[in-house]
Amino acid sequence: MTGRDIASGAALGLVGLGVMGGALARQLVERGYRLAVFDRDANAAAALASESGGTLAVAASLAALAQGLRRPRIVLLMVPAGEAVDQALAGLAPALEPGDIILDGGNSHFADTELRVAAMAARGIDFLGVGISGGEEGARSGAAIMAGGAREGFERVRPMLEALAARVEGAPCCTWFGPGGAGHFVKTVHNGIEYAEMQLIAEVYYLLRHLVGLDLPRIAAVFAKWAEGPLAGYLVDITADVLRKADPETGRPLLDRVLDAAAQKGTGGWAVAAALELGVPAPIMAAAVHARSLSALHAERVAAARAMPPPPPAATGDARAAIDALELTLHGATIAAFAEGFALLAAARCRFGWPIELARVAEVWRGGCILRARLLETVRDAFLRADTLANLALDPALAAVLERAAPAWRGTAAAALEHGLPVPALLAARAYLDGYRSQRLWADLIQAQRDCFGRHGYERIDRPGTFHSDWRAP
Ligand code: 6PG
Repeated sequence: MTGRDIASGAALGLVGLGVMGGALARQLVERGYRLAVFDRDANAAAALASESGGTLAVAASLAALAQGLRRPRIVLLMVPAGEAVDQALAGLAPALEPGDIILDGGNSHFADTELRVAAMAARGIDFLGVGISGGEEGARSGAAIMAGGAREGFERVRPMLEALAARVEGAPCCTWFGPGGAGHFVKTVHNGIEYAEMQLIAEVYYLLRHLVGLDLPRIAAVFAKWAEGPLAGYLVDITADVLRKADPETGRPLLDRVLDAAAQKGTGGWAVAAALELGVPAPIMAAAVHARSLSALHAERVAAARAMPPPPPAATGDARAAIDALELTLHGATIAAFAEGFALLAAARCRFGWPIELARVAEVWRGGCILRARLLETVRDAFLRADTLANLALDPALAAVLERAAPAWRGTAAAALEHGLPVPALLAARAYLDGYRSQRLWADLIQAQRDCFGRHGYERIDRPGTFHSDWRAP
């Protein structure tokens, strides 16, 4: 179908019919939007068109899509981050006019989004960087939507975005977080926390298996029970399902057939890089990203396991008590992961001047997204009480949980170390909290070392100023 064919009035163009784009297109059609789509794979577009019973128009090219849309044009890009976004923009650009709106619904880097917003604004076009979380299920039946870019542009497409958003207590999980790359930044932090939580859950599964000695069906039952308590949330929920799943070929647990080498597309690393750049500690996200990289060294690990045999396996103790300790540990570590993530958001809003309301972030994440969890209610309440709270660990309600979790968490960490079971995120999370609540750290020595070898100067606790000493003089 050509641009002329869709000129009769498609209100919205959608580029990219991959898993997320296809699911959003289906939802938009169901909600009565007159949609025109383009995908480089003409078959994907044709298949979707026939599925939609002719209510959806297919454009033969990006230019045809842009020419055929109702003015002002609204185009949603659902293409992979990076070059594909620029290629799509280049294809649409000649036909675009001032007043048009382009939304990038992919996982773009917020710095790229900043540049695109500026370049499009110079032509009078609103470019919105919109983080959309929830995977295929969210895209199909309600996602969490984190928007950034020109506010007026967002207001013009707000009804459409709200229609695509999940709802919690009747309110859509969709917000504008600020100009430029603010929306994609919030999504990047979401993904950093996602990496952290997935790793924490995976480590707890590993301990249930190799420290407590449970088999997969029993571990599935443990997660299913936790999914009804304070740990209730999407990731704990799907973990129970994944652990339960049988291999159709053998009837044995499918997980045992899965290679233990995790992939990553990079958004977790972007969150860590942003934390490094802003000087915000984010050791749990960092541990999670590195843990995936370590897991990917599969062949090396297999060889190293032969060269460096691990300590003897753990003795089976009181399973009931160990399971309870792990629930508390996971609860505490999850709070720590949110704490560092929200601290990163707070630092970014300060550096970039974005009007991000932290309580609103927690609210948006309560529905639709991968992080949705009961704990986000408490996080939301904490920031409603004090938007400038320096760290979630200081909120009285969360501090009480952390206090309760600490002994079990320390015991778990010690047992894991003793038995050579790698749990980098659980240890990083514990050390993050212990470091944060230490009145006096080891950094006095770091200051002195830097001054000793490089004359970098140091501060004193008894008077202001910068000092230098000849540390090696007798
Ligand atoms: C979401 C997810 C989604 C995607 C991640 C996966 O919020 O819906 O975060 O965006 O699953 O990008 O990232 P990795 O491939 O890096 O694990």
